[in-house]
Amino acid sequence: MNITKAWSTIVVSNGLRLMIPLWIAFSLAARAEDRPIYLDANEPREARVEDLLGRLTLEEKVALVHADSKFTTAAIPRLGIPRRWMSDGPHGVREDVGPDTWKPAGHTDDFATCMPCGIALAATWNPALAQEEGAAIGQEARKRGKQMMLAPGLNIQRTPLNGRTFEYLGEDPFLTSRMAVGYIRGVQSQGVASCAKHFAANNQEFDRMSINVEMDERTLREIYLPAFKAAVQEAGVLAVMGAYNKFRGQHCCENDYLLNRVLKGEWGFQGLVVSDWSGAHDTREAALNGLDLEMGTEKPYNEYYLADAYLEGLRQGIYPQAGLDDKVRRNLRMMFATHMFDAGPPGSANTREHQAVARRVAAEAMVLLKNDGNLLPLEIDRLKSVAVIGANAVALQAAGGESSGIKAFYEITPLQGILRQFGDHVNVTYSKGYGGTAGDDLAGQAVRAAQQADVAIVVVGLGHGLFRDTEGSDREDLKLPDGQNELIAQVRQANPKTVVVLVAGSPVEMPWLNDVPAVVQAWYSGMEGGNALAAVLLGDVNPSGKLPCTFPKRLADSPAQVFHAYPGVNGTEKYEEGLLVGYRYFDTRNVEPLFPFGYGLSYTRFDYSNFHVVKNMGSDDPPARVEFDVANVGDRQGAEVAQVYVHQVQPGLPRPFQELKGFSKVFLRPGEKQTVSIPLDAAAFSYYDPDKGGWLAEKGDFEIRVGSSSRDIRWTGKFTLDQTTLKKPMLSAQLTP
Ligand code: GLC
Repeated sequence: MNITKAWSTIVVSNGLRLMIPLWIAFSLAARAEDRPIYLDANEPREARVEDLLGRLTLEEKVALVHADSKFTTAAIPRLGIPRRWMSDGPHGVREDVGPDTWKPAGHTDDFATCMPCGIALAATWNPALAQEEGAAIGQEARKRGKQMMLAPGLNIQRTPLNGRTFEYLGEDPFLTSRMAVGYIRGVQSQGVASCAKHFAANNQEFDRMSINVEMDERTLREIYLPAFKAAVQEAGVLAVMGAYNKFRGQHCCENDYLLNRVLKGEWGFQGLVVSDWSGAHDTREAALNGLDLEMGTEKPYNEYYLADAYLEGLRQGIYPQAGLDDKVRRNLRMMFATHMFDAGPPGSANTREHQAVARRVAAEAMVLLKNDGNLLPLEIDRLKSVAVIGANAVALQAAGGESSGIKAFYEITPLQGILRQFGDHVNVTYSKGYGGTAGDDLAGQAVRAAQQADVAIVVVGLGHGLFRDTEGSDREDLKLPDGQNELIAQVRQANPKTVVVLVAGSPVEMPWLNDVPAVVQAWYSGMEGGNALAAVLLGDVNPSGKLPCTFPKRLADSPAQVFHAYPGVNGTEKYEEGLLVGYRYFDTRNVEPLFPFGYGLSYTRFDYSNFHVVKNMGSDDPPARVEFDVANVGDRQGAEVAQVYVHQVQPGLPRPFQELKGFSKVFLRPGEKQTVSIPLDAAAFSYYDPDKGGWLAEKGDFEIRVGSSSRDIRWTGKFTLDQTTLKKPMLSAQLTP
């Protein structure tokens, strides 16, 4: 064949075909042949990892396992490895700081869409929406050139005093798992790594850098690990962040049991373990106990434990090269997965879609706690005047909370949302009500405003200040500060049509609850929060949020307090409450909460009917599924979260009275009915038996409890497991030393 005259057809894209001279085709092919495997996006990821690993020098490998600035690891230009960027946080892409300080970098292109806080996302009970939120955040990370989002935060709420309660996903491991999987899949669908944090048992801010957490194995396996396990095994999370605290005497960032044995050995985690910032403490422990990337703060980067000291130890043969190679492989996997060597999606920011997701999450998160006399929704046509009261009606929240803070493109406050949507015919007044100086008569002004209005909307709650909803400190009580309780009582006295809106990320005590007709838990609802709140107050949105945590009547009723298991003694904290976290405690010990886990009202009503349990006879099917109908029997469209709890009648070991094992959120028009089918796999019946070293589903009787909340059970059905099964974790791989 005369190659100079022959022609070849190549398909360039979307089926477009080009005729090119064969010699060009060959030369292109030849060049492709010359291109290293690691640079060829068509090659399998593991092949690319091995190819690049083989090209790295010892020094270059070590450079990839520790920071070279606040949120980066070093570029290796010789091999075309760019600098790797990571960013906080769960509610959006954090503003740029550094490079070697926490101070803002002063950029003007680092605004972000601020989503509602983590506990608000959990209150939607909508994993698909969590995935949409994750995808939007992933797109904004791409736009900002970040390869990894340090999110989501998955730590279980064992005490409502935890300063980061607002940032996490509540008290239940099943709900936290479902929401985490959705969020992570969303972020990673955009070619951005997600990072499940903080692994593990980082359940308070008090003494967080050094507190040593002790707990029994069942509590660890059944309460504090499931969400991380789901992140790894269901969502394929590319990174896990070690926690600051110790666990059973060893820092979590260098914890052989948690990182080598459980995370990598049992769960088969192939991604990277990154330290929390300054969470590494010892070269030998970091080298051998599963840490793959050290990030931090206060010292020159070459002095990091996995920097010069590690390099020297490797040179002297103190640490195995194989261990370094394993760390590097885990980092390279994340780098290839996030298109660091090829184009990848361009990303986007502050789009209408992102704004719409922020608004939907905010709206679906709002929990209608009380609505006596159907005061809500407000009838706009009959409304002439509204007194909006409270500092939280105008407070900006997005930037607060420390690492989860966001430099938002904008933030619609509750007052702005009300002013925008209540229409010109409604006279809206505003008074701060609290938080002034001694001479101010803020409360008096507010009371007079309430007296003169048709309705008073009191927007109170917390904020991200010290000892409130923030990283770095815990709350000291569950009380509303700044005389808010007194203000609410006075406003209610002045106007019986008082609506309380709580802008907070954790439970508060409500001494005024019996006197106030309507209460809405609004959380920190992100940059679209004011619009969402106004829509809920007016009924344009029917609230569907359900509490992802128990609201206790008083702090003393909370299990961590009852068992005197917080904040720890002499640097050690024993989780004496064990499995009895949240509703597991309240329901087992029959303690009446202020509002129960899974609770939330609607402007319509839902009937449940036609319940039955279908037993799967096949060996590989889940043992059962529970089916029932949910009907909207009111006059407004709405959404209901139907919940399924399991109770074991005679367990071999003590179990909580009931445990959430399934839920489904159904959206129904007035009069519409939908059949819900929720599978119950073996895990739904199992508990962890530490003596047997595995998950035990015991033969015997169970109750399947279907309801609208953990305390509003509409049906209880019997189910019998015909045989006992034990599922033991298999060590997935011989761990590189
Ligand atoms: C903080 C937080 C962690 C965050 C990291 C980087 O201390 O504990 O959640 O991702 O440091 O800001």
